[in-house]
Amino acid sequence: MAKSLIVANLKSYQNENEAKNWLESFKKIKELNLNSAEKEVIVCPAFTQLFSFFSYFSSNNIDIKIGAQNVSPFDEGAYTGEVNAKQIKDFAQYVLIGHSERRQNFNETDDILMKKVAMAFKYGLNPIFLIQNQTDLIPQGTQVVAYEPSFAIGSGTPDTPENANAIASVVKSKNNVQMLYGGSVTAGNVKSFTAKANLDGVIVGGASLEAEELLKIIQNA
Ligand code: PGA
Repeated sequence: MAKSLIVANLKSYQNENEAKNWLESFKKIKELNLNSAEKEVIVCPAFTQLFSFFSYFSSNNIDIKIGAQNVSPFDEGAYTGEVNAKQIKDFAQYVLIGHSERRQNFNETDDILMKKVAMAFKYGLNPIFLIQNQTDLIPQGTQVVAYEPSFAIGSGTPDTPENANAIASVVKSKNNVQMLYGGSVTAGNVKSFTAKANLDGVIVGGASLEAEELLKIIQNA
């Protein structure tokens, strides 16, 4: 059985107290006895919670990887308010780059996204690069790509597993990458995506805010 990657994108919701409660519920993941050769879970909290998640997972021996939701296109330096790849690397192994919410709300162009990917590589972070359609540019060296059509994000209307699989197949024919699907993934529909030959996992937004629901998604994937 091929390994499934399950990425939880917690977006911009939790404060410290909410994050602590989430972690307490999510701790039950230890009872699931996940075989890490079959399923790998990556949780992406907000910047302000990276340290809490990192220390909670390490002190409770929870084998879950951490990703950041964003990274500065600049290296360390006089860039007030930016969080750079060197800083993120202390807590995380992955970083989301190219999410449509960032492309749309923060005008992130291909040029900016390429700079972010270059910074991730410089400091040894693995980019999870999000595309909205099969023609989107994919930076050289990217190993994990997520297809997330805008209409499916937070809408309750996912793309069909057949279409997601077809797009993943086109992307894989041109790039040596793992392909994820994202957009309205739930515990009820996750298997229909992970069962597809060209899909190596999923990225989950809204449904991951409830730790119990995320645990079900992980189980069902
Ligand atoms: P959704 O979001 O699961 O709430 O549709 C996915 C994402 O934005 O990564």
